[in-house]
Amino acid sequence: MNKTKKEDKKLSDQELLKLESQYCSWGDTVHYAKELNIFTRCEGSYLYDEKGTPFFDLQMWYSAATFGYNHPRLRTALTRQVNTLPQLACQYLHKEKILLSAKISRDIEQKFKAKGRVHFNVGGASAIEDAIKVVRNHTKKNPVFAFMGSYHGRTLGATAITSSYRYREKFGHFADRANFVPYPYCFRCPLGKKKETCQFACLRQFERLFESEYYSLVNTKTRQCEYGAFFVEPIQATGGYVIPPKDYFVELKKILDRYKILLVDDEIQMGFYRTGKLWAIENYGVTPDIMVFGKALTNGLNPISAIWAKEELISPEVFPPGMTHATFSSNPLGTAVGLEVMDLIEGSDFATSVPLKGRYFVSRLKNLQKKYPQIGEVEGMGLALRIEICQKDGFTPNRELTDAIMNIGLSGELKAGGKKHGLVLDVGGYYKNVFTLAPSLYITEQEIDLAVDLFEEALQKAIATAM
Ligand SMILES: Cc1ncc(COP(=O)(O)O)c(C=O)c1O
Repeated sequence: MNKTKKEDKKLSDQELLKLESQYCSWGDTVHYAKELNIFTRCEGSYLYDEKGTPFFDLQMWYSAATFGYNHPRLRTALTRQVNTLPQLACQYLHKEKILLSAKISRDIEQKFKAKGRVHFNVGGASAIEDAIKVVRNHTKKNPVFAFMGSYHGRTLGATAITSSYRYREKFGHFADRANFVPYPYCFRCPLGKKKETCQFACLRQFERLFESEYYSLVNTKTRQCEYGAFFVEPIQATGGYVIPPKDYFVELKKILDRYKILLVDDEIQMGFYRTGKLWAIENYGVTPDIMVFGKALTNGLNPISAIWAKEELISPEVFPPGMTHATFSSNPLGTAVGLEVMDLIEGSDFATSVPLKGRYFVSRLKNLQKKYPQIGEVEGMGLALRIEICQKDGFTPNRELTDAIMNIGLSGELKAGGKKHGLVLDVGGYYKNVFTLAPSLYITEQEIDLAVDLFEEALQKAIATAM
C-alpha cells in the first residue's frame, strides 16, 4: 500500500492522463475539452496547475464557487464542523440544519410574504427530483411545462424536464417528458420578432394554447389544466445565460395562476447573488411556489442542495415523514458551510457591489465587441454574463471559434504582465457558441481588466489560427 502511495506521488501529468484514459469513465464532461489539465491548488479567482501557472477562472465551477475558491471564512466553518460533529445520519437533528432552514425560510417569507419550509438533498438534480415529488403530491398531476433550452440536471426525472434530446436519446422513452415552451431568447427570437415591438408574442402564443380543449392543455369547461407546474430558470444557465425581458415572468405568472399551475423556480445556478440579488427571481417581482437551490449554497464545499416550498405544499400534514430521503442530504459539514454562507451574505454589500462590477465588466466587453464583429452579443445581470460568439456577420453562431478560444484559454499559454496565464471559460448556448461567465463575486476591477485582456488575447489567437 505504502509503496503504491510513493509511486503515485512521482507520477507526471502525462502518466496520470494515461491512467485517466484507461480507468476513468469518459461519460462525464471532462472530454468536452481538447486540453486536459490537472489542477493542484485553488485560491480566489484562480486555479493552479503543478507548474504553478495561474488559470483565471471565469466560470467558478458553474457558479458553485461563487464566493471564490478556498474562502477563509468558509474553510474555517468547515474545519470547525470537522472538529465537532463531522458526521451524523440525516435521520437525527443537528443545530446547523435547523438554523439554515430557518434562515432561508425567514428570508423568503420576508421577501415574498410566503411561509414555507426547506428540505435538503445532495445535488441539484436530486433536489429537482424532490420538487417534482412535491408537485405531483400536491397537484396529483404528472405533466409539467419547462422551457426550450432548459437544463435541470441529469438524473432521469430532471432529464425529462431538460429540453435537449441529446441527454435523453440513449435512455429509452421518457413518457413524462415536459412540454417545452420557447424561452424569451430575444437575440435569437424563436418567432423571429424584435424585442422592442414583439409585445411578448411568445407568451401570447403560449396563452392561446389554453383557449380550446383541442389544443390539448386544458378542459375549458372545468378550467382544469392537465399540467401541474412550470419549471423555470430565472436566467437560462446552460442555455447560454439568456436573460428574459423584465416583465416576462409577471406576465407568465398571470397565465399560470389562471389555471392553478405551480411556478417552480430553479435557482441552482443563479441563486446566491449571482444576479445581484440573493434569489434571481427577486429581479422579476413574482412569487414562486417552490424554489430549488444548490451549488453556491456551500460554495462547492461539501455539497448540499435543497428545495423551499410553500407551507400548503410541504406542511407535515401533506408531506409527512419519509416522503423523500437521501443518506447524505442534510449532512452537518454541508449545513455548517451553508449557514456560514448565509451569514457572510448578511454582512456583505453584494446587493450594490455585484451590479456595479457587472456593469463595469459588461462595459469592458462591449468595448471589445466594437473591435471584433465576431462578438455578436454581450449582456449581463449582476455577475451572470454572456458573450455570444458569431461569424463576422455578428449573428450566425460560430461554435468552432468558441471552442478554439476555450482551448487556447486552457492551454495556459496566454501572457499578461509578462507572466503565463490560463483562462477557464464555460461554453453554453443552444448552438454551443456562448461563453457563460460566472466570476467570483469578489472579483476586483483590476481583475476584470486582466480577465478581459486575457479573453482578447485568446480571441485574437483563435481568429488568427482560423484564417
Ligand atoms: C439551473 C440548473 N439546474 C439544475 C442543475 C443540476 O445540478 P447538479 O449538477 O448539481 O445536479 C444545474 C447544473 O448545472 C443547473 O444549472
